[in-house]
Amino acid sequence: MAQIQEYQSLVLDALEVVDFKLIREKGDINNDALTFHPAMAHQIFGESETIFGYEDLHVRVLYTAGPLHIYLGIEYSNRVNEISGGEIKADDVVSTIAQSLPDGCYFINLDEFLKTLDKADKFQPFGEKIGEYTQVSDDGTERLFEIYQCDYKSSSFLKFFGRLQTFILWFVDAASYIDTDDPQWCYFLCYEKYKNSDGQWQYATAGYTTVYEYYAYPENKRPRISQMLILPPFQKLGLATQMVESIYKFYQAQKNVIDITVEDPSEDFQRLRNFVDARFCKELKSFARAEIVKGFNKEMVREARETLKLNPHQVRKVYELLRLFYTNINEEKEYKAYRLEVKKRLNAVHYKQMKDLQKMERLKMDTEMIRARLPTVKQRMDQLQEEYTVVEQDYQKTIAKLRAL
Ligand SMILES: CC(C)(COP(=O)(O)OP(=O)(O)OC[C@H]1O[C@@H](n2cnc3c(N)ncnc32)[C@H](O)[C@@H]1OP(=O)(O)O)[C@@H](O)C(=O)NCCC(=O)NCCS
Repeated sequence: MAQIQEYQSLVLDALEVVDFKLIREKGDINNDALTFHPAMAHQIFGESETIFGYEDLHVRVLYTAGPLHIYLGIEYSNRVNEISGGEIKADDVVSTIAQSLPDGCYFINLDEFLKTLDKADKFQPFGEKIGEYTQVSDDGTERLFEIYQCDYKSSSFLKFFGRLQTFILWFVDAASYIDTDDPQWCYFLCYEKYKNSDGQWQYATAGYTTVYEYYAYPENKRPRISQMLILPPFQKLGLATQMVESIYKFYQAQKNVIDITVEDPSEDFQRLRNFVDARFCKELKSFARAEIVKGFNKEMVREARETLKLNPHQVRKVYELLRLFYTNINEEKEYKAYRLEVKKRLNAVHYKQMKDLQKMERLKMDTEMIRARLPTVKQRMDQLQEEYTVVEQDYQKTIAKLRAL
């Protein structure tokens, strides 16, 4: 009987063998330059992110660039089923991926899939246009992008969105599909508007953001940005930054919006948000240099909330960022005052813990076990310095971008 260990070389890294492509025209099928790979695959292939049983495997996951019709197929030179004389079976890759697709809607016949391209030039963005952006590359080439807001629940939109959100399992950590039956979801979509080979304008889907509009008493709402994904071929073109700005403007114009929050932001997203917020706040009166150097105050929270709909927690971050922007770090006194200010915030939870402990001790409660788990003063100082360094490095990256404007 064949031993599975004999076939170790047939254990493949899904992140390498799964090839995605966004297809604008038939010729794109053979254009390797368009291929991109998943960032993660554990939601599809399990924790090990492996596929078993093939030699020279290519898993092709193709999407038409606008409407996002999906083709799934595999190519390989040899399979463990044949090598082992039928004793061992290779993973059924197509049906494993298909389980994550909405309504089992996908093509396994490439010609049928390509036929959908014949109608792709009719594909129009869903929703209302709320922004546009021209991206200019180093060689002067211009690309045009448009941002749309969509809250209508037509079945054609929901089917399209069902296909679009299949990407998150591969590209967003800990992501899950949203419940599109819930009417409080609002959708923002980004498309590239490009001229096809016939010289006609056509749309390609570039990314999306979902926002959950929480109700707030009595007739208000607090939108929370939930998922944002810019498809890999469109990343680092400034699209997420533009989308965040458009979403802000959309909600800033609404009187009944209290503030905008973000659900569990990734590091990249938080940096991007800090940049957008700092750029907006820099123009506010309460964030003028002369005010910032005096320290954090309630007027900053009020003004940023009223005009920009920023929540207080984020306003504090932007204050720290802009204060560093204005701080001369070569002036030791100025720089030290800045560090102390940030460390005070970073230490707030620990400080509260220590106060509570002292209170318990005054009440003659036994705190020995709790104290044993706490860091010593020296350890805490070192931790704080480490935390501070991470925060400052992050702020400095954003400051460099602000200075480059
Ligand atoms: C995080 C994410 C949304 C960012 O999207 P994006 O469109 O690439 O973002 P931007 O282009 O606006 O900015 C990204 C970086 O590119 C830089 N950039 C912007 N325009 C650029 C250009 N024309 N050329 C080169 N770089 C550019 C930005 O300065 C920024 O740099 P930084 O990361 O050092 O701060 C995207 O990477 C993504 O979808 N990731 C996977 C999912 C995810 O993490 N989502 C967020 C949490 S739900």
